[in-house]
Amino acid sequence: MSFVRKVLLMTAGVALTLPVVGAELTEKQAKSAVEYRQSLFELVKSNIGPLGAMAKGKAPIDEAVIAKNALRLEQLGLMISDYFVADTRNNKVSNKSSDAIWENQADFNNKAANLVKASTALQVIVANKDTANYRKGIGAVGATCKACHDDYKKD
Ligand code: HEC
Repeated sequence: MSFVRKVLLMTAGVALTLPVVGAELTEKQAKSAVEYRQSLFELVKSNIGPLGAMAKGKAPIDEAVIAKNALRLEQLGLMISDYFVADTRNNKVSNKSSDAIWENQADFNNKAANLVKASTALQVIVANKDTANYRKGIGAVGATCKACHDDYKKD
């Protein structure tokens, strides 16, 4: 098969799975988009949970867990923007994303980038065994959740 034909076929395959920016989503596509992004945040929650417990003194400090989960939070944070390309404002699927996300996408993406930055900083803190800043570093990650939820997540 020629290279051009392969590329054309690949492009056609992508078009079937990824909604085109600006196009109306079918209810099925919107349902998947909401499921994906909510799943992403469930993983975010499960990775910060143990760190929050450590910061509050409810669990012993475990540097290996901080390092591993901070890396995961960085990677999950990098996915947020991609999972919000699909604009579900005009669909009926129940979800907690505010319409403001698609009105201020640059700011929303910036808030996602702040989660990435704080997670990277936490990895540096733990790699340096900067124990005095463990709680602060975990708190800084948590602050990025609230900053985005305040503006872009419905209660
Ligand atoms: C850039 C914005 C942004 C950041 C950063 C962010 N969130 Fe969210 N979060 C959202 C939005 C928007 C929703 C609503 C998703 C929906 O229902 O469509 C959400 C939903 C959630 C949910 C509910 C998922 C569900 O199934 O309804 C949890 C839990 C959550 N976030 C946890 C966190 C935690 C913990 C952090 C930080 C470590 C975080 N989020 C960082 C925007 C963000």
